[in-house]
Amino acid sequence: MEMDLKTALAETIAAAAGLPAGEVLEMIETPPDPKMGDAALPCFKLAKELRKAPPVIAQELAEKIEAPDFVARAEVTGGYLNFFYDRKFYAESVLQMLGKAREDWGRSEIGAGRTVVIDYSSVNIAKPFHIGHLSSTAIGSALYKIYQHLGYNVVGVNHLGDWGTQFGKLIAAYKMWGNDDEINRDSVSAMLKLYVRFHEEAEQDESLNEQGRAWFKKIEDGDEEALRIFGWFKELTLREAKRVYELLDVQFDSFAGESFYNDKIPAVLDELREKNLLEQSEGAFVVRLDEEGLPPAIILKSDGTTLYATRDLAAAEYRKKTYDFYKNLYVVAYQQNLHFKQLFAVLKKMGHAWADGCEHVAFGMVSLEDGTMSTRKGKIVLLEDVLKKAVEKTLAVIEEKNPGLADKKKAASDIGIGAVIFSTLSQSRIKDITFSFDRVLNYDGETGPYVQYTHTRCASVLARHEDTGAQADLTVLENDDAFAVLKLLASFPQTLVAASEKNEPFYVTRYLLDLAQAFNKYYYEYRIIDDNAAQTKARVALTQAVKDTLKTGLRLLGIKAPNKM
Ligand code: ARG
Repeated sequence: MEMDLKTALAETIAAAAGLPAGEVLEMIETPPDPKMGDAALPCFKLAKELRKAPPVIAQELAEKIEAPDFVARAEVTGGYLNFFYDRKFYAESVLQMLGKAREDWGRSEIGAGRTVVIDYSSVNIAKPFHIGHLSSTAIGSALYKIYQHLGYNVVGVNHLGDWGTQFGKLIAAYKMWGNDDEINRDSVSAMLKLYVRFHEEAEQDESLNEQGRAWFKKIEDGDEEALRIFGWFKELTLREAKRVYELLDVQFDSFAGESFYNDKIPAVLDELREKNLLEQSEGAFVVRLDEEGLPPAIILKSDGTTLYATRDLAAAEYRKKTYDFYKNLYVVAYQQNLHFKQLFAVLKKMGHAWADGCEHVAFGMVSLEDGTMSTRKGKIVLLEDVLKKAVEKTLAVIEEKNPGLADKKKAASDIGIGAVIFSTLSQSRIKDITFSFDRVLNYDGETGPYVQYTHTRCASVLARHEDTGAQADLTVLENDDAFAVLKLLASFPQTLVAASEKNEPFYVTRYLLDLAQAFNKYYYEYRIIDDNAAQTKARVALTQAVKDTLKTGLRLLGIKAPNKM
């Protein structure tokens, strides 16, 4: 919408100036202060091309332009040509588009025919699903939904950490001290206990490590018993992870983990050899990355075993072959920066131009402010516990604020879990987060519950409205507060595109806060429903558009939008 208006404006300017419309479109800005106009053309860049001073260019253009209908007037201020929209016309166009799109607002076809692979969450077998996985899971899942909304074909991959010598040790420990009932009951925490005990006893008895290696060799060789036990551990770990995915409403299209690539590694090694990239160094095989200013990537250890990086090489090739991706994203903590730089550099050295479509979507650390759950040594904060605690605390808030609410448990879950997701996505992903329950659950702060609450406010207004069939009188939306809401509504599609370009779901959380704040300001200043049916109709249409857009935005982040809370 906004985009369409801008394009139309750019075309008329381009015609008057004798410039390509695309170039003009890129130059059009939104003035920081609405008093300066709704769109502005800075004429400074044109000065060279047109050999005139910017204010002169602005003045000449102002006289020549056949402004489109929605432009009420154009004004010259210094080197700027400022455009003021016809607000009634604007309101009509925006509400018409939104009335048609409803909860599909922002859906587009710009991604049609393109596939985006997103590697996210990627938990490790026999390891707890801890708070550190929250960001990867929430960011990846939000990007998944945003890309999908933009028409891309999306493939969500959970690149399970299911390969490595530690699994040999785990099986050795199980064979010595394992108790099936306990493992079935406590799954990962029981496995963790076995693992810890193994390490303690191995300090006294070196032969244990020998047993661990022997069991890992058995896994590698496809020994039936080893695979059965390992498969069982895997299943239990996944069962636990899936409980969290259900709470968070997160899905995957593939659980192809590290072990999936074992039989695909020889071909990668052959390719590296053929391309003369593999060099021997202190017994190991490496790819040198001196020119790239990176340390060499180790591909094979001296004992012939493969590494995390080797499997990622095979995985990238497999993803290209299988999905022919346009983008291949890795939502992984910034601690792995070097790993991904090396991975992409090796792919490039192999001559794969598609390495440019690979991107490390890095994020910072999450820690808890709450003392009782701090990540003290050995004390791991389980994500499931964090989510449960958020729901519990929310239930307490509901009991206090709205004890008569129907289905309080469901509401507490929608709000509590939504709050955790929203806060995780509330800032540029690269920043570290300190998580505080009190802050993220605050209905009045810049939080998920605040956005959800604004949505319920819209819902309750709409529930009270009875349609009289009157023709909407859009002049009541010409005031600054309503106009600010309309402009935000119009910019939702661009916000989604920007979020996908930068892989920043936080653009959407920021947008939702802005929209909620703008609507609430309007709501405090104006009565939506009054005796004037035609005016009410216009304000109700605005409320409906806000409700739909808040709901869509929340949905794209993986957050529910209840009608009551
Ligand atoms: N399992 C890894 C970890 O927890 C993350 C895997 C990320 N994906 C990848 N293709 N390397 O650190």
